[in-house]
Amino acid sequence: MNSETTRAIGVFDSGIGGLTVVRSLMERLPFENIIYFGDTARVPYGIKSVETINRYAAQITDFLIKKDVKLLIVACNTMAAVAHQTIVDLSNVPVAAVATQKIVKQVPVLEVIDASARIAIKNTKSKSIGVIGTPATINSNAYARAIHLLDKDAKVFSQACPLFVPLVEEGWFDHQATKLIAQEYLKPVIAEKIDTLVLGCTHYPLLKPLLQDIMGKGVNLIDSAEAMADIAADLIDKQKIANKTGPPPNYVFYVSDVPYRFQTIGERFLGRTLGRVELVSL
Ligand code: DGL
Repeated sequence: MNSETTRAIGVFDSGIGGLTVVRSLMERLPFENIIYFGDTARVPYGIKSVETINRYAAQITDFLIKKDVKLLIVACNTMAAVAHQTIVDLSNVPVAAVATQKIVKQVPVLEVIDASARIAIKNTKSKSIGVIGTPATINSNAYARAIHLLDKDAKVFSQACPLFVPLVEEGWFDHQATKLIAQEYLKPVIAEKIDTLVLGCTHYPLLKPLLQDIMGKGVNLIDSAEAMADIAADLIDKQKIANKTGPPPNYVFYVSDVPYRFQTIGERFLGRTLGRVELVSL
């Protein structure tokens, strides 16, 4: 077993979009070992039922807990929105047994929704906040709940953008078609005169320049990947499990399928070469 600090951070997503979170973690926490799981065989989750998303999330949690991670990061907004409790319930690991009683230890779980909600509240002046995400995320109302927990006076305007995930996977970050679709999706939130827009999906940070262009310079775009890296850094520091020096970290990427163009798309998300990629089935 590794020492507390050198155990890896486990990051998971429905596919390779969560690599945007890994990228931010690598920049913010350059000595941390990272184990990533992307469910590339079953992506997208954003249009699936709550039951299915929960079942998949449970399998991935189990996989990463067995890898002895010190922290679980749910990079996928859709899983965070509908399966957070399932993940937390499964992140208790038995550490000892006293008589007939098992002593369990909770592996901390961080998820992107809470992270982004906190940054959105910190940034907004008008308290009018827009949220965009997959249909499952938007229908769950999880973002509105997280924002209202922090500030009950905030007004939240949500919009599902189901076509953004395939457009990003296609690499159409500044394509004319993406622009037209984005203009259509964003019309209702622009009309609400929001000053902050939460990019509530792993894929959307790659559309940041295009979305900023449409929303105008006065609107803050909240990138859940960056928000997550800051909050993770804080947590491991407080819990004294941060790995602050040492040899170059180990990154392992587990996927459930290696789709066509996996390497190129993955590297776009990650912003660097994908190192060790391993195929696993859950
Ligand atoms: N990872 C998902 C999210 O952040 C987007 C891709 C999917 O639909 O599975 O919501």
